[in-house]
Amino acid sequence: MNLKVLGLSLLLFEVSCFTEFEITVPRDTVTGFYSEELILPCTFPVDSSWDLRSTVITWQRGLDVIHSFYYSQDQLDRQDQRYVNRTSLFNQEVAQGNASLKLDKVTLQDAGVYSCSVSTNTGSQKKSFGVKIAAFYSEPRLQFSLLTDGVNLLVTSDGGYPSPTLQWLMENSDITNQTQTHLMQDTHTGLYVVSSWINLTEITNSSLTFILHNKPLGQDIRREIQLYSDKSERQGESAYRYHGCFILISVILLLIVMSVLFVFITRRRRQPTKLNDFTRVEQPSEIQISNGKSSICL
Ligand SMILES: *[C@@H]1O[C@H](CO)[C@@H](O)[C@H](O)[C@H]1NC(C)=O
Ligand SMILES: *[C@@H]1O[C@H](CO)[C@@H](O)[C@H](O)[C@H]1NC(C)=O
Ligand SMILES: *[C@@H]1O[C@H](CO)[C@@H](O)[C@H](O)[C@H]1NC(C)=O
Ligand SMILES: *[C@@H]1O[C@H](CO)[C@@H](O)[C@H](O)[C@H]1NC(C)=O
Ligand SMILES: *[C@@H]1O[C@H](CO)[C@@H](O)[C@H](O)[C@H]1NC(C)=O
Repeated sequence: MNLKVLGLSLLLFEVSCFTEFEITVPRDTVTGFYSEELILPCTFPVDSSWDLRSTVITWQRGLDVIHSFYYSQDQLDRQDQRYVNRTSLFNQEVAQGNASLKLDKVTLQDAGVYSCSVSTNTGSQKKSFGVKIAAFYSEPRLQFSLLTDGVNLLVTSDGGYPSPTLQWLMENSDITNQTQTHLMQDTHTGLYVVSSWINLTEITNSSLTFILHNKPLGQDIRREIQLYSDKSERQGESAYRYHGCFILISVILLLIVMSVLFVFITRRRRQPTKLNDFTRVEQPSEIQISNGKSSICL
């Protein structure tokens, strides 16, 4: 029993001894912005016995040396080519335990796992964390072009990373499935140009919403496009109704004329003397109506 307690306290002592000199780096992945500067944080404990001359700070990405510092100054002989002239420590702050690295003009190739290692007369430790790079998408450009049977709406946004999520809404209902999206990557920078388009064959007064979401940056571009139409569905409907009315009216007129004719014809048989007058009247009116009817039908 006593032995167990002793063992446990020895273990605790060992752990506390081990963690006495502890450097601090970000727990989560750090996001850098394309072409901007990025600070990779790393701090170490300093006490009264700490000595700058015995301090070695080394930043690495895998086996590549990005920046190193010893004998109280930067030592860049072994620095990886890709980081030349882009790195610096906050030399004035090293005495406060600041071993953070400033990386300038960040590119997509800078994404990866970075390690900060600090060794002093009071202890040493090495820790790693991930870095990812992202870029904001530009304000989308809207382009219209007329098709034979409608209009093509094209939205383009560029200079972003990583690939975005797109969504199109028509009056709050999702119409993304009716759209097409093309993603192009710049061969030099690796940034994306995104184009998304929809063909509208029927325009009604409605609002169309384009949404671009760049998740790691929390960038949300939401642009509304108002669609207007002169030819409303309702007008079309009423035109159709009028059309129907005209046909009905002409059929009724035709029936009236036919019944009038019938009366005239029966009368004519009874009174043959007035025959000439009636034929003159009856024929033109029949033509008129049949003409009127066909023009409406067409
Ligand atoms: C280190 O110093 C720089 C410059 O003052 C500061 O921006 C940075 O936040 C410091 N880093 C840490 C981890 O304290
Ligand atoms: C770094 O900067 C120095 C001095 O400004 C310059 O001569 C050198 O060409 C630069 N190197 C790179 C790789 O940009
Ligand atoms: C879009 O199409 C996919 C597959 O064709 C389907 O799973 C999804 O539910 C559709 N989304 C909408 C909003 O209609
Ligand atoms: C839109 O119309 C163009 C030209 O007719 C055609 O090339 C394209 O595939 C159509 N796109 C969609 C999303 O239907
Ligand atoms: C659509 O809006 C325009 C302009 O506000 C208006 O002239 C037209 O009648 C509207 N059409 C419909 C279907 O409401």
